[in-house]
Amino acid sequence: MNADVRFWDRIAQKYAKSPIRDEDAYRQSLARTSTYLRAGDRVLELGCGTGTTAVELAPQVGEITASDLSPAMLAIGQSRAAEAGVGNIRFHQGDACSAPEGPFDVVMAHNLLHLLPDLQQVLELIAQRLPAGGVFISKTPCLGEARGSAKYWLFKTLIPLMRLIGKAPASPVEFLDIKTLEAGIKAAGFELVETGNYPVSTPGRYIVARRL
Ligand SMILES: C[S@@+](CC[C@H](N)C(=O)[O-])C[C@H]1O[C@@H](n2cnc3c(N)ncnc32)[C@H](O)[C@@H]1O
Repeated sequence: MNADVRFWDRIAQKYAKSPIRDEDAYRQSLARTSTYLRAGDRVLELGCGTGTTAVELAPQVGEITASDLSPAMLAIGQSRAAEAGVGNIRFHQGDACSAPEGPFDVVMAHNLLHLLPDLQQVLELIAQRLPAGGVFISKTPCLGEARGSAKYWLFKTLIPLMRLIGKAPASPVEFLDIKTLEAGIKAAGFELVETGNYPVSTPGRYIVARRL
């Protein structure tokens, strides 16, 4: 079992119990996402965590394949789906860089892209999983936007220390900026159709992109 799996497995129960950091921002992005979903869509969510978003959106689509590295996160997702009476989520364990084959109409990845050792490889794989016109929806903390500020240096210093004591993932957390992230998505074969910051501070960059 690799160190990232161990980390996310270890914190899964705590993650599940923590309230959503900014409920308004979460609801805003969920509402925007709903406008891109159609009944019958086959959706892939990468890094689905404890399944909160998949359980919310499943009633609007045909099926969601909710995938994550961590078996403990997925086990919580499975019980949440069962408790909510949602029967169209298929949980799948695996790394985002070997995502399930599909076919899919929509791929989502929330609070994941900054955690990937090879982001461009995963963006290209997402593009391969979608037909032309297929939609990729993501939200990503862009810590790089704070570059130069005290907050930036605080995160830069704290995260490696937290990793040493097992409180941050083993893979480096990327300090992405919006320009680099959006350029990477376009380079993978997408056009951007909507962007927003939910929340605005240390932007959670919300991006909807369409496969060219
Ligand atoms: C910050 S949590 C976000 C969970 C959920 N998407 C959310 O927004 O609450 C990151 C999730 O990504 C998963 N993860 C981390 N690295 C991954 C990878 N390389 N492939 C797939 N999942 C990964 C973790 O197990 C964890 O569940």
